[in-house]
Amino acid sequence: MAAEKQSPTAGAPAEEAGSPLHVAIVMDGNGRWAKKRGLPRTLGHRAGVDALKRTVSAAAELNVRWLTVFGFSTENWSRPAAEVAELMALPKRYFETDIARLEREGVRVRVIGRREGLSAELVRIIEDAQARTAHNDRFFLNIAFNYGGQADIVDAARRFAAEVASGRARPEDLTEQLFASHLATAGSPPPDVIIRPSGEQRLSNFLLWEAAYAELVYQDVLWPDYGHEHLKAALEAFAGRDRRYGALAADDVLAAG
Ligand code: IPE
Ligand code: MG
Repeated sequence: MAAEKQSPTAGAPAEEAGSPLHVAIVMDGNGRWAKKRGLPRTLGHRAGVDALKRTVSAAAELNVRWLTVFGFSTENWSRPAAEVAELMALPKRYFETDIARLEREGVRVRVIGRREGLSAELVRIIEDAQARTAHNDRFFLNIAFNYGGQADIVDAARRFAAEVASGRARPEDLTEQLFASHLATAGSPPPDVIIRPSGEQRLSNFLLWEAAYAELVYQDVLWPDYGHEHLKAALEAFAGRDRRYGALAADDVLAAG
């Protein structure tokens, strides 16, 4: 996943009233949802795919323009083999039933994360989904799959180091912006808000670099139950935050002046 063209908005906070938002979600709680119902965890993951479909639609209705979801982390390989196999089958399940609609509705799909470790069939399904929607620009859906924030930073560092080794770049060329253009998320603005349902309050290696100024919203709902009302509530919580990016609040600037 070499760096793509940098979006004009990359690095710029996108958040005057009404401007489209980049929302990132750690989809969590599938296992607990299933357990509460006496079901196998696999059915929790399948219900999680339905929640993703609902949430993509809800996001498009709620002035969100970029949605990045955490589907499978580089750490999830340590789960039992049968569960890993089920998780590996989810992109196929999702795209088989939804790619035509995503394509039609103007959604551009990107799967961010390492391709190593994925089956050839899964890589083909991913590449196909990306190619079919590559011309779209109404809504951007990034699915982090076999993704880890630290792994992605390492991969970006390797790419830049390779450019230096081949004489195409010098160490002193490296800036935050240039570094970001080597990440898997190159081309998307940084997330404005990162939502984690299921009650856990941690990032779990999601978008570590990109999260620098993201607002964090935690919600007490298990991912398979997630939908329009939860996203709306999360965006309302976000709208009430005072984002300063290290500067002063506007009225403090006036008071200081
Ligand atoms: C999210 O649900 C799916 C993945 C992390 C792949 P979990 O499987 O983590 O569900 P809980 O946390 O056990 O409830
Ligand atoms: Mg979990």
